[in-house]
Amino acid sequence: MGYKAKFRVWRGEGGEGRLEDFTVEVNEGEVVLDVIHRLQATQAPDLAVRWNCKAGKCGSCSMEINGKPRLGCMTRMSTFEETETITVTPMRTFPVIKDLVTDVSFNYQKAREIPSFTPPTDVKPGEYRMQQIDVERSQEFRKCIECFMCNNVCHVIRDHEENKPAFAGPRFLMRIAELDMHPYDTADRKESAQQDHGLGYCNITKCCTEVCPEHIKITDNALIPMKERVVDRKYDPLVWLGNKIFRR
Ligand code: SF4
Ligand code: F3S
Ligand code: FES
Repeated sequence: MGYKAKFRVWRGEGGEGRLEDFTVEVNEGEVVLDVIHRLQATQAPDLAVRWNCKAGKCGSCSMEINGKPRLGCMTRMSTFEETETITVTPMRTFPVIKDLVTDVSFNYQKAREIPSFTPPTDVKPGEYRMQQIDVERSQEFRKCIECFMCNNVCHVIRDHEENKPAFAGPRFLMRIAELDMHPYDTADRKESAQQDHGLGYCNITKCCTEVCPEHIKITDNALIPMKERVVDRKYDPLVWLGNKIFRR
């Protein structure tokens, strides 16, 4: 059975904006993105929202629903009370372009700062031989749909714009961990994770893991193991001796 829902949607651009109230029809089986599309069709034709697949796989429709980062296309209306006012706002950590659409170029910049996969020079493409056990750990990280909700929710940058230059965010610290765990990657990721990408800023609050729509255990399986790898390197007696000898 259909009903009328109360929606409060953030409207604005260029740093200015306000919450606007709407009453809008909802039909059985719909998700928040359906209702936003109905708003566009019936009451607010210029309402901006980014979306693509409507299947939870493109990572485009990230937004904050009642203050929580969610995919609009995967958030069922049946999870709310019919009498509840549903507040939809853009991701807070990134600048708003218009209404619910944010400029997520911070994330692409961070992606570019990570040196790409670096295989050994004497092994040619097609000659890589790996066992399933060697790739199992990093395979989980490949499920990422780049919705950037983990970066959006991490307090290191959500509340501190000034940390953005030094911190890659959970999504890209996970990428570094993925490469570091790759049996054929030869780049030294440990020092740069700490020095260049801000691994030390992460104090394991796990908010990133809680919001990940792919249920990737970002903190437990990527960030904490990467921190352990960095510490192992620092306190490895051979590395310590090497540093003493060669860095004098
Ligand atoms: Fe989104 Fe999860 Fe990927 Fe972060 S790790 S960008 S929350 S899918
Ligand atoms: Fe941020 Fe996740 Fe660490 S939310 S503090 S990156 S555990
Ligand atoms: Fe693709 Fe929502 S529209 S994840």
